[in-house]
Order: sequence, then C-alpha cells, then structure tokens
Amino acid sequence: MDGNGRWAQRRGVPRAVGHREGVQALKRTVEAAPQFGIRCLTVYGFSTENWNRPLDEVSDLMGLVRAYVRSDLERMVRENVRLRVIGQREGVPDDILELIDDAEARTAGNDRFLLQVAFNYGARADITEAMRRLHADMKAGVIDEITDAAISQRLSTCEAPPLDLIIRTSGEVRLSNFLLWEAAYAELVFQEVLWPDYGPEALSAALEAFRCRQRRFGARPGPMRAAG
Ligand code: FPP
Repeated sequence: MDGNGRWAQRRGVPRAVGHREGVQALKRTVEAAPQFGIRCLTVYGFSTENWNRPLDEVSDLMGLVRAYVRSDLERMVRENVRLRVIGQREGVPDDILELIDDAEARTAGNDRFLLQVAFNYGARADITEAMRRLHADMKAGVIDEITDAAISQRLSTCEAPPLDLIIRTSGEVRLSNFLLWEAAYAELVFQEVLWPDYGPEALSAALEAFRCRQRRFGARPGPMRAAG
C-alpha cells in the first residue's frame, strides 16, 4: 500500500491525512476483491523497518490500525471475512495485540474471504522464525525431513492459498521484504497509482494485466502433457 506520503505531499496536507485516506482505499479494495473472485488478500500495513519513521508517524499508523480493526470487525463477522494479522508480536503495543487476538478469534470460522494484514512484518524474519520452528520440530522428532511444504507450513501465511499476484503501487519496483518465499511463482504487477487513490478500478486493471500473463511455473510452453 505504497504512496500515502506522496499523495499527501502533492496536496500539501500532513502525511497522516495520506495514511487516513490509505485506510479508505483499503476498505474499498477489500470490499471489491471478492467480487473479482479473489479469495485472499494480504496487505502490507507496517513493516519491521517502519519503526524507524518519526514517532508521530508511527503513532498515527498505530492509531489507524486500532481504528480500522474497531470499525470494521463487525462487518467482517457479518460478511464472512476472516482476519489474520501476520508479523512479529514483539514491539506491538499490548492493546493492539488484544484487539488483534479478539478479531482473529471472532472471525476464525469465516471462510468467504481471508484478509491478511501484514503488521510489524518482514519476510526474512518470518522465514527465520519458520526455520527456528523447523529446527525445534526436528529435534522433538515431529518431522524427520526438511521439505518445501514443511517450511511453508511454518510461515505465518500457512493458512493462505498459494500466492498468484503481488501488486505494488506508487511506481516503486521492488518487493521490500514482502512475502519473499511465497512470491516464488507469483506474477508481479507494478502500478503508478498512489495507494490512497486505489480501489476497484485499479484492482481491475491489475487483474487484467495478470490475466494476460502466461504462467508456466518453470515448465516450457506447449501442449499440456496428459496425466498418468
Ligand atoms: C506506505 O506509504 C504506506 C505505509 C507505510 C503504511 C500503510 C498504512 C495504511 C494504508 C494505513 C494503516 C494500515 C492498516 C493495516 C489499517 P508511504 O508512507 O511510504 O508513502 P511514500 O512512499 O509516498 O512516502
């Protein structure tokens, strides 16, 4: 969800206004996604590096996360949306952790749409943590082999379907430590639109670009081989 700061700067308003509009864009996009046939959306809300921003901006972002969970939880419950927050818990204020725990518990049985909010998230930290768990499980005899699946099952995204598409807004062309393991065969779409302007139209354009891609998953193009 990149470009909140530039959106605000272009309008001569504080960055906080850009982030606030970013939340509105998030709401529009989450509402539109199931109508496009999307089953799961993961948004990058706060990276482990975002703690390095000025204190007032960090505090604005924390406030917006609180407000978002509070204002949208009932709707998620009603609309059969499951919320999962992925990322490290250490460093996150206790009251936010409580809100997250409650929201995750109340939506745990919902299965129409999975919304994953990456919050205090970094892909390398997530992979490192998965490796620690793998090591512990091997020592405990829970598993005896390191496999692709064994790693995937220990990532914070283990509940999500395979990742098909990564969208980055605001013209930046890099992954910035987002879903690095999961992105192995994902299509990447980079859009110029700044996140606060995002919504159904921009999402539709990204999906159109996705539909035009030929996904080969490492195989050669050509007639499908018969199974068996
Ligand atoms: C990047 O824009 C955006 C962020 C660091 C935060 C995204 C947060 C929200 C949309 C609101 C709160 C989140 C949730 C999950 C409710 P930037 O500030 O880096 O913009 P710039 O690159 O133009 O400076």
